[in-house]
Amino acid sequence: MTAPLLKVRDLNVRIPTPAGVLHAVRGVNFDLMPGEVLGLVGESGSGKSVTLRSLIRLHRPPIGMTGTVEYGGQNLLAASEAKLRDVRGGQISMIFQEPMSALNPVLTVGEQIGENLREHKGLRGRAAQERAAELLDLTGIPSPKARLADYPHQFSGGMRQRAMIAIALASEPQLLLADEPTTALDVTIQDQILRLLLRLREELHMGVILVTHDLGVVAQTCDRVAVMYGGRLVETAGVNSLFHAPKHAYTLGLLRSLPGAGEHRRPLQPIPGGPPDLRFLPPGCPFAPRCEYVTDECRAGEPPLLEVAPGRFSACIHHDELPALKPTLAEVGA
Ligand SMILES: Nc1ncnc2c1ncn2[C@@H]1O[C@H](COP(=O)(O)OP(=O)(O)OP(=O)(O)O)[C@@H](O)[C@H]1O
Ligand SMILES: [Mg+2]
Repeated sequence: MTAPLLKVRDLNVRIPTPAGVLHAVRGVNFDLMPGEVLGLVGESGSGKSVTLRSLIRLHRPPIGMTGTVEYGGQNLLAASEAKLRDVRGGQISMIFQEPMSALNPVLTVGEQIGENLREHKGLRGRAAQERAAELLDLTGIPSPKARLADYPHQFSGGMRQRAMIAIALASEPQLLLADEPTTALDVTIQDQILRLLLRLREELHMGVILVTHDLGVVAQTCDRVAVMYGGRLVETAGVNSLFHAPKHAYTLGLLRSLPGAGEHRRPLQPIPGGPPDLRFLPPGCPFAPRCEYVTDECRAGEPPLLEVAPGRFSACIHHDELPALKPTLAEVGA
């Protein structure tokens, strides 16, 4: 059997705040296989970005990280800074949710792509220029050669995001961490970028963790999905099985809050209530206060993520009682 590209075990991130410690990521476990695209979904504030950043140890003290992130036989959470610098932006690239904060305002877009090409691919001069233009072109930026000389502020929001994608892909990474990579983009460009990611997955056997709010994007792009709630993974499954038969009441709620497609169009059913405060979590299942299936058992203690069917993990006590969903939801990506 192939070894996982990434093995995450008992990952915890604690952020001290004036009002108490915010436990943003709580005991997260998952594997990512080479060439696999894993979607990470969940409401705003569920801990997706904090999780992604912790995988390459981007948090600084006083933010605390524990657990292991095994990549290439090393635990990145315990690796030397030198090793991490080598891995980051090279073997593991990240597309940040906020393109402006990730781009360097005083270097041209061409220089920033060039930097990666030089450092990680050994390309210089004309060869680097040509490859940089090619990368911009791949992300759908018009007149890519001319745009290499522009600074990030001369790009629109959507173009910055694409420039960041070009920088991230320049090193031809083994693992791409993509935090809402297509959110600011219109549908045509979004499609183009997602197709590009899928092609690179084929060509480079690149693994991808794709954070997104958009379950349509998940259906279109991902092999597997991890659903995050209150800093924990509450369900992981293959895309089709998750969309057809969710095994966590929260996942069911997420899917029901999607607009149906075509003749299946039906009213949206938003999940009542709001996400939990990660500084003051209730003792039981964090979803219990909003859950229509809740029983006393759910409030008694936090249910662990268990394998409830082959390849399917759920932290819902009532996973067996949830209804299967008709093809409507599988159509979200169609
Ligand atoms: N630097 C920080 N200081 C304090 N709190 C933080 C910090 N970074 C994140 N948090 C908190 O950690 C929790 C998880 O945040 P995170 O950014 O991971 O959410 P998310 O799932 O990515 O949400 P979104 O979908 O809105 O991007 C939130 O409660 C957030 O307010
Ligand atoms: Mg985020």
